[in-house]
Amino acid sequence: MANFAIMGFGTVGSGVAEVLRMNGESIAQKLGEPLNLKYILDVRDLSATPYAKQAVKDFAVLENDPELDVVVESIGGAKVALEFTRRALLAGKHVVTSNKELVATHGRELLAIAKEKNVNYLFEASVGGGIPVLRPLFQCLAGNQIQEIVGILNGTTNYILTRMVKGGVTFAEALKEAQSKGYAEANPAADVEGLDAGRKICILSDLAWGREVRPEAISIQGISHLDLRDVDIASRAGYRVKLLGRALRLEDGRQAAYVAPHLVPADCPIAPVDDVFNAIMIRGNAVGDVMFYGRGAGDLPTASAVMGDVLDALTHRNRRRDLGWSESAPLIDQERELPLYWYLRGDFAQPEGSEKLAEGAYIVGPLSAQAAKELAEQVKAAALMPVLR
Ligand code: HSE
Repeated sequence: MANFAIMGFGTVGSGVAEVLRMNGESIAQKLGEPLNLKYILDVRDLSATPYAKQAVKDFAVLENDPELDVVVESIGGAKVALEFTRRALLAGKHVVTSNKELVATHGRELLAIAKEKNVNYLFEASVGGGIPVLRPLFQCLAGNQIQEIVGILNGTTNYILTRMVKGGVTFAEALKEAQSKGYAEANPAADVEGLDAGRKICILSDLAWGREVRPEAISIQGISHLDLRDVDIASRAGYRVKLLGRALRLEDGRQAAYVAPHLVPADCPIAPVDDVFNAIMIRGNAVGDVMFYGRGAGDLPTASAVMGDVLDALTHRNRRRDLGWSESAPLIDQERELPLYWYLRGDFAQPEGSEKLAEGAYIVGPLSAQAAKELAEQVKAAALMPVLR
């Protein structure tokens, strides 16, 4: 019998317990032994739940149990979760997590501890919710040089945009719905302001190129300043507006990563991706473009990815999966060095060489962000947004 514990019994943690309840038999078959949920560590009182017997409040119980194989960390944040993850790895336990904040900010250190202790630190659920994307990236696509990654990485904001545009509900109502469905972060500002997508594009970048990109080093813009007028103009002109994370590696080895709302042409496979769904396109120099699509948030989709990692950790109990990243990535000066196309709206004459989407709405480029901002200032534009080309 294999034993695992869940730390943090919120949306994801309880989803993991539910997946085990639903699929315990087939999981045991795949594993070759039963999988036992031995402990649930949570500050809340679980005595009135079906999990009263597993409930513990002291992390040392997990740490000191030699029969405990895997710990699922679904606490969130980078405080208690960091301490318990460090201690669990140091105690020789495999750790599986959905915690993108922790992986993006401390993944390098935690993977180094895992390597030293010959255990797994796995985090498939940290990007794209239930979508298998990290393992394909570092395993199935390992024969490629990865050139670019771009995608919808946050379910909450995609849900909000879809509900506002197609359902006609207000931003506040759509956010409330996303919260009640268990999509949003504890502090939804992390979703709305793009930080959650920023953490995820950093993790993808770390794994794709083996060098750390920290969320605080990249440009991150969310959807809070988005004007529905631009969404409307864009859709009439054959575009959709999506919050995208994008990472690329230039030929000279330098990298870029950023998060911003973009105009996406309707014929791009990312454009019709709505609601809580995420889509991540990865371009490799051998495979070309591949796209990963599925539910990017929610209890069971995220738990699906966590459970996959639990099984993977248990089947690699004595052989650590070799993944990790080293020192900081060399980033370009993105404001000046990354030419993009830009959507501009305002009360001004059509700029020379631009494409007209509607009266007062144009696409210009390629221009650096700095040049685009200077132009926007000069013509007193009311909106400026990159266009995915
Ligand atoms: N708040 C996140 C999202 C949860 O909406 O995508 C999944 O990481």
